[in-house]
Amino acid sequence: METIRMRVDNNLNSEKSYAQAVDLLNNGEVVAFPTETVYGLGAVATNERGVKKIFEAKGRPSDNPLIVHIGTIEEVSNYIEEIPENALKLMDTFWPGPLTVIMKAKEGVLAPSVTAGLSTVGMRMPNHEVALELLRKLKKPVAAPSANRSGKPSPTKASHVEEDLQGRVPLILDGGKTGIGIESTVLDVTVNPPVILRPGGVTKEMLEEVIGEVIQPTKTQEKLDSTPKAPGMKYTHYAPNAPVYLIESDQSIVGNAISKLKNEGEKVALLAPQSFDNVGAHYFFPYGVEGDKEMMSSKLYDDLRACDKTEATLILATTTTTEGVGAAIMNRLEKAAGGKWYNR
Ligand code: TXA
Ligand code: MG
Repeated sequence: METIRMRVDNNLNSEKSYAQAVDLLNNGEVVAFPTETVYGLGAVATNERGVKKIFEAKGRPSDNPLIVHIGTIEEVSNYIEEIPENALKLMDTFWPGPLTVIMKAKEGVLAPSVTAGLSTVGMRMPNHEVALELLRKLKKPVAAPSANRSGKPSPTKASHVEEDLQGRVPLILDGGKTGIGIESTVLDVTVNPPVILRPGGVTKEMLEEVIGEVIQPTKTQEKLDSTPKAPGMKYTHYAPNAPVYLIESDQSIVGNAISKLKNEGEKVALLAPQSFDNVGAHYFFPYGVEGDKEMMSSKLYDDLRACDKTEATLILATTTTTEGVGAAIMNRLEKAAGGKWYNR
């Protein structure tokens, strides 16, 4: 299959590109498109044939459900049995935006593979002009996971989608770099108090201002807990080819680690704040100014992917605090590292 990539921002031909995307989706095909978080790989959420193609193109395990994207809040009631009061408040406050709300699904409306056998479904209204324009023109719900091959970091540029899915999808709508850079917050409101299944751009603090107590499980709780959580979180994620090790954000600790690793013959890639440019890494990918978490989240996946284009044999990534969007960043970094910290 040939993969076509079309720019859709401020382009005279963008109307044609949207029309082509809508045609493909209506014909049970998949289309990649940008959102404010990461690029998604979409299919019409009521079309089982189309939805199955998402799983094939990504190599995604079939027990991992998809998020349904919609263009207006009113559409939610087409797919949800009963919308809880707190869910309505959250949608009013944070949509369009990086919040996925898990609710009980109406039976027999969405394609069965979307929910992967669960009785619930996650819904979100993305805050990106291209995604919203596509939804407005299509007038149907779009099931879309991140547009990467399963296990790889999510795509924040159209070129990342190309790297992973070239020849596997017919069309990529190119809307440039995504803004937030990590995936939406996934919140389960079928339980009380609601539980954060995946931290993201809408933080625990922001949610609690609107609906009161929200649970954000600690790593230990996540391991012990047997209640259902986001099935996707149990798989390897966000992983570049070389092993990733987390390390404290301290120049002398990092500098010593790099000297030692060099002596052992390793080629080290370093992801760290800008000021770490003189600690001697073979390859350096700056997060931006220390403490600028928005910059860090927007660059993280691009940096992890860039490591694959180097000869690095080992990646050191400095950590940040779990305040605000730091919780989401640390969640992704821990997954990318498989929980490993540098301690030689
Ligand atoms: O920002 C985002 O959320 C991006 C963009 C494209 O919208 N999408 C995304 O989708 O990250 P995906 O499929 O890569 O991640 C969705 C996560 C997975 O961990 C999945 O297991 C979980 O949400 N999830 C989806 N439906 C669920 C449900 N009904 N119950 C629990 N977890 C669910
Ligand atoms: Mg994903």
